[in-house]
This record gives sequence, C-alpha cells and structure tokens, in this order.
Amino acid sequence: MDSIECVLNGKAVTIENSDPTTTLLDWLREQAGLTGTKEGCNEGDCGACTVLVSDLHQGAIRHRALNACILFLPQLHHKSVRTVEGVAVGERLHPVQQAMIEHHGSQCGFCTPGFIMSMVTAHATDETDYDAVLAGNLCRCTGYAAIIRAAEAAKDGALPAWLAEDSEKIRAFTPAPITGSNWIYPQSLTEFADWYLAHPKATLVAGATDVGLWVTKQFRPLEDMAFLAGLEELQQITEEKDHWRIGAGVTITELEAFLAPHFADFAAMLPRYGSRQVRNAATIGGNIANGSPIGDAPPALLALDARLELRCGDAVRTMPLEEFFIDYGKQDRQTGEFVSTVLIPKQADYLRCYKISKRFDQDISALCGCFFIEITDGCVTKARLAFGGMAGIPKRAAAAEAALTGQSWNLETIAAAQKALAQDFSPLSDMRASAEYRLQCAENLLLRCYHEITTPELATRVLEVTS
Ligand SMILES: Cc1cc2nc3c(=O)[nH]c(=O)nc-3n(C[C@H](O)[C@H](O)[C@H](O)COP(=O)(O)OP(=O)(O)OC[C@H]3O[C@@H](n4cnc5c(N)ncnc54)[C@H](O)[C@@H]3O)c2cc1C
Ligand code: FES
Ligand code: FES
Repeated sequence: MDSIECVLNGKAVTIENSDPTTTLLDWLREQAGLTGTKEGCNEGDCGACTVLVSDLHQGAIRHRALNACILFLPQLHHKSVRTVEGVAVGERLHPVQQAMIEHHGSQCGFCTPGFIMSMVTAHATDETDYDAVLAGNLCRCTGYAAIIRAAEAAKDGALPAWLAEDSEKIRAFTPAPITGSNWIYPQSLTEFADWYLAHPKATLVAGATDVGLWVTKQFRPLEDMAFLAGLEELQQITEEKDHWRIGAGVTITELEAFLAPHFADFAAMLPRYGSRQVRNAATIGGNIANGSPIGDAPPALLALDARLELRCGDAVRTMPLEEFFIDYGKQDRQTGEFVSTVLIPKQADYLRCYKISKRFDQDISALCGCFFIEITDGCVTKARLAFGGMAGIPKRAAAAEAALTGQSWNLETIAAAQKALAQDFSPLSDMRASAEYRLQCAENLLLRCYHEITTPELATRVLEVTS
C-alpha cells in the first residue's frame, strides 16, 4: 500500500499515489489549498514555510519546527502537521498570534506565518531561547526586537487543546511500513537492509536537508527512494563500556543534547549548524554519508577518533571514520551498504571546536577546526587535529599532529605545528574563502587553542562578549 496517513490541522488525511518527491510545501499550497505557509527560498534558509510537525519518537510525543519546502510527503507518514491556518481555535487566536498583534511584530507579513509556527512550537515545548528558536526565520522589515518581545509576552499563555488532541491521534496510528511504486518507507532495519541490497542505486532520504535541495534547486529526477524516518532502530543513542553508539538517524538537535555533558565544545558549536528547523531534520548519518568537505560534524568526530559501522544486508563492518572519506565525492561505501552507527570512544573532554563562517548563525563553514589535545605534565601526550574546508574531504592534519606529540606545550611547539599545516593542506579558493585565508586561519586557530587551554580566562565566546 502506498497511502501516506497523517493528521493535518487536526483532521485525518490519506494521501494516495503521490510522487514521493512532492514537498509538503507544494502539496499544502497546490493541493490542500492552504496558502498561509509561504515559499521564500525553497531551500531551507528563510523559514517562511515553517510548520509544526509532531510524531511519536522513542515512546514520547515530539514537537518540531520543520521547513516544509524540503520535506517530502512520505516523511510525514503517521505524523501530525499544523500550519498557520490551524493554530487559532475559532475566533480565539493562539497566544503567539495575539502577542504578535499587540507587539507590532509584523509589517509586510510575508515572513509572519513562519515566525508564528516557530513560536507556536517553542510555546509547546517550553523553549525560551528565542534567538535560537528564530535564527532560521528571516524578517526583512519588522526587525527582530518586536517579534522577540511578542514571543516573550506569549510565553505563559495557555496551551491550545489541539496539542493534546493531535498527540492522541498520533498514538492511535498502528505502525506499518508503506511502499509506493518506486519508494519504500520501512519500519524495520532488516527489511530496509534487504531492500537496499536489491535496489542499490536507490536514494536514501534521512532528513532531506541535502536531498530536498537536489529536487527543489537542481530539479534532479530521483528513481528508487527509501525514506528512513520510520527506522527507530537507527535513531537511538546507547552507551557501552568503551563508547557511545549514535544511530545514523539521530538528528543534530538530539546530538547536541547528548553531547553537552560529554564534549561541551562540540555541543556549543552545533547551534551554529543551519537553523533550528534544519537541525531538527538533519541527521548525523546524512552529514557523514554526503561526504561534504565542509560538514560540521565530521571534523569533531575525527578529532574524537570516532568509528563508523556500515551495514550491508546482514553484514556489518566497522572502520575508523577517517578511512571512510577517500577523496572528494568518494567514500568507502560498497553497493547496498549504508551508514548505521557512529561509535564515539569514551574519553576525557580535551576537545576544542572552532567554526569559521561569514555569518554567526545559519551559515556553512569556510573552515572548521577541531582539536583533541591531551597534555600531561606540560607535555603533549595526544594530539588529533581535524579540519573541514581545508581539503576535498574532512581530514586530519598528520604533520601538525606529529609536530605536537611528545613535545612541550609551549609557543615554540605551536609554531612548529602551525608551520606543518602547510604540509598537510593545500586548500582551495572558493566563494567562502581564499586558499591563503584558510591556511592562515587554520594556523591562527591552533594559536587560539593554545591560549585558551593555557589561559582559560582568555577564552572568547562571541555571544558572551559584553561592553
Ligand atoms: C539551510 C541549510 C543549512 C545547512 N547548514 C549546515 C551547516 O551549518 N553545517 C553542516 O554541516 N551542514 C549544513 N547543512 C547541510 C545538511 O543539513 C547536512 O549535510 C545534513 O546533516 C544532512 O543530513 P540529512 O539527514 O538531512 O541527509 P539527507 O539529505 O537525507 O541525505 C544526505 C545524503 O546522505 C545520504 N544518506 C543519508 N542517510 C544515510 C545513511 N544512513 N547511510 C548512507 N547514506 C545516507 C543520502 O542518500 C544523501 O546522499 C545545511 C543544509 C541546509 C538546507
Ligand atoms: S521557503 Fe525558505 S525555508 Fe522553506
Ligand atoms: S514582516 Fe516583512 S519580512 Fe517580516
């Protein structure tokens, strides 16, 4: 059967014979007649298309703000969607809608439905860091002060009754896999692994924050597709004696929460990864499997000496993450094989992460440097330095690591490691940065790291700078 079952603004909906690459945004506007959800960029950048998506995840109801423009219809199976048309109850506006009026939070209004839906989600989840909540919603005329005042004013407003009603409807679904003529939405890992072995050319869709753009921007036709959203087995984080197992389907939002007590700097970098809507969809598996040289998670995982589990049918093999990235656009992934788990060794938190991009929020890295440096009695006993944006793949700096290891922790040693970076990398110039800038910046990050470790009170966090 290929009927996608979901709940839309409180009503049960069955979508039959759909093209699996139809986005929720197009479907809402063109087929459901709900034009309140706006199209701005159609690539996950502006938040005009934000909707609230709720689902049953690891036994609990989860509410997420997601960008409808890069969400394919099968990803909504057994979920509930609320659009801006569905948040007021009769004549009674939702508290955030009322507050937006009272605080003059809208002028031209084009961005407003997206802001409302991000704010409705934050209201539902009791989140009050509105800078983070709204970083993925662009407003060009009102300005953010009025909008944030509105979000704060609405904070204590009553939760709408539909929130609990939607949750009940989600729980009432009976889990069942669905398949279309050229796609599958499996619910068991074994079922998926077997299908992928038989359809090795299929496109795997996890969060669709990359694949969505292949469709909306590159108009790429996709043949067979597998949607991984129903694979709870891929979405777990478990602890073993020596390492943590992070399922490939764990979202960046979940990863951030997990990392905070273990690797604080890694967790602190993730709020700068896309926007809240992007992180709510994007998965760690997608961030690795796409092989991008400028993905943010791989440098930190390389510095942590992470390993990867790849599964093909019933067979599972494990490899160091650094061996997975072979060359630009080329990864060590065999026919029918997929990324199933990332293994992070348990270790002391000597990790420092630095993301360099033109904008603080919602920008892809020009370069990203992540350094794990262990110092014992003034001497470097372990050094793993990994960079994104410095080569065609995320890569460790072997020469610079050698220049540090076994040496005294002082400025002379850092200077030698800085010099060695030129042996490790010949970066490219592109629209994000020139080759010279990248190399100079990588050297400077090592120096910054030295000062931050040696004199922690010098450490600077942009968001904490005060006059
Ligand atoms: C607006 C915007 C901002 C962004 N900002 C950032 C940023 O700041 N930093 C950053 O690193 N990235 C950023 N990205 C890129 C993107 O979010 C990430 O690469 C993301 O992690 C991809 O994960 P996904 O689950 O959405 O992957 P998908 O789009 O579903 O898939 C990506 C690729 O991985 C493959 N794949 C997915 N899962 C598996 C698996 N388990 N096994 C094998 N192959 C698999 C897919 O087939 C596809 O080739 C941004 C994207 C957008 C749209
Ligand atoms: S239309 Fe811009 S994020 Fe969807
Ligand atoms: S009110 Fe015009 S873009 Fe926000």
